[in-house]
Amino acid sequence: MADYDVIVIGSGPGGYVCAIRCAQLGLKTACVEGRETLGGTCLNVGCIPSKALLHASHQLHEAQHNFGKMGLKGKSPSVDWDQMKAYKQDTIGQNTKGIEFLFKKNKIDWLKGWGSIPAAGQVKVGDDVHKAKNIVIATGSDVATLPGVEIDEEVIVSSTGALDLKKIPNDMVVIGAGVIGLELGSVYARLGSNVSVLEFAETVTPGQDAEVQRTFKKIMEKQGLSMTLGAAVQSAEVKNGKATVTYKLRSDDSTHDIKADTVLVATGRKPFVDGLGLDALGIALTDRGQVATDKRYATNVAGVYAIGDAIPGPMLAHKAEDEGMAVAEIIAGQAGHVNYDVIPGVIYTHPEVASVGKTEEDLKSDGRAYKAGKFSFMGNGRAKANFAADGFVKILADAETDRILGAHIIGPAAGDLIHEICVAMEFGAAAEDLARTCHAHPTYSEAVREAALACGDGPIHS
Ligand code: NAI
Repeated sequence: MADYDVIVIGSGPGGYVCAIRCAQLGLKTACVEGRETLGGTCLNVGCIPSKALLHASHQLHEAQHNFGKMGLKGKSPSVDWDQMKAYKQDTIGQNTKGIEFLFKKNKIDWLKGWGSIPAAGQVKVGDDVHKAKNIVIATGSDVATLPGVEIDEEVIVSSTGALDLKKIPNDMVVIGAGVIGLELGSVYARLGSNVSVLEFAETVTPGQDAEVQRTFKKIMEKQGLSMTLGAAVQSAEVKNGKATVTYKLRSDDSTHDIKADTVLVATGRKPFVDGLGLDALGIALTDRGQVATDKRYATNVAGVYAIGDAIPGPMLAHKAEDEGMAVAEIIAGQAGHVNYDVIPGVIYTHPEVASVGKTEEDLKSDGRAYKAGKFSFMGNGRAKANFAADGFVKILADAETDRILGAHIIGPAAGDLIHEICVAMEFGAAAEDLARTCHAHPTYSEAVREAALACGDGPIHS
């Protein structure tokens, strides 16, 4: 068997980016992947397919609600679900083949099969044992199950099953008002399902800026999602192809039932390290089952590293990618680094929700003096023209130094707008630096500048 400088186990955004960076740095690299296509959860059954369905269902919403207002008259489109799924599948194929091309271009060997680590310096795939000076565990995560709720991927589904339903359900229950629950819940609401969301916490998207949470909940309700907060799901039972979900309201302990054709379980994910042989190898895990690493992504076994959803931190494709680049650089003797203070989070609903850095709640609990500059998209000409004026940009800056500490956006293209603030934060910018930067008119980005102006003397258009 060939000897490698690096074998990366897992070809999701963390693994494949790591493999490409290793190859670029001159390391002889292989990547182990057991799926039939490269790209991991994100490309095959996560980020990419969900974005295709979000895009398609948003177009339908535009046709139904806004085309007429713009003078685009005619029969509203109807949904051909099989064609929509074929479009989604085609999008996946283009992306996964793209990674295969990049592997070939960078001379990375794809070791097909599920890998394990029988000993430091060895990776077993099928009957073959390959030697590697360095091994990177990039095996990602899997759906976290909920006691009393058994996923069958037919009636009770995870996000994977929800992307491939046989038909659009009449009634759908979503357990968890987190990222997956609201992205996929809003897809099916737009496609005509009655969507009921049951959330354990007293807010949607726990951990987000509270003002964003309140606005987000209202917007999702306006889009037809019914939200029950403070609801602890106890069980789900399937009879004759229909599910009954039982939940307890935390406020008064009362028990309720709700029926559905489809139940989406979206209550979080857990690291996926099954079958790697970590126990036998003596790799230390955290008490939450994540692979424990130091700041250089090294595990306690020499030459074995881990990145992405398998280690602590937000379970985000781009966090995994950054760690993949960093660990490749570290293995190559460079100073790889990830700035965990500037990792954006995006929810790809319409409108999008994006955040970076501290929330107001974080700053209050840190006792840090700050100012909040806020600007509503109602004051943005482009957003009004595009029927996208719901939401706002909020920038949080240090009260004394004006340095940007965080930003929270709910509104059109929020997931793109957030990045100018990320770059500003990477450079240690003040809100005034953003406010003094010329922003093209008419763009959504002007709302970012206006929020920065609101940290100082005030915005122009409100
Ligand atoms: P999540 O952690 O975002 O949300 C889970 C929700 O379920 C929470 O609000 C939690 O309070 C609730 N919950 C937990 N137990 C419950 C119960 N018994 N009854 C009712 N509610 C309950 O997890 P989600 O949405 O499953 O996503 C998994 C991971 O994938 C997350 O880390 C997320 O960041 C990531 N992801 C990111 C995306 C993005 O960046 N756009 C898209 C999809 C997933």
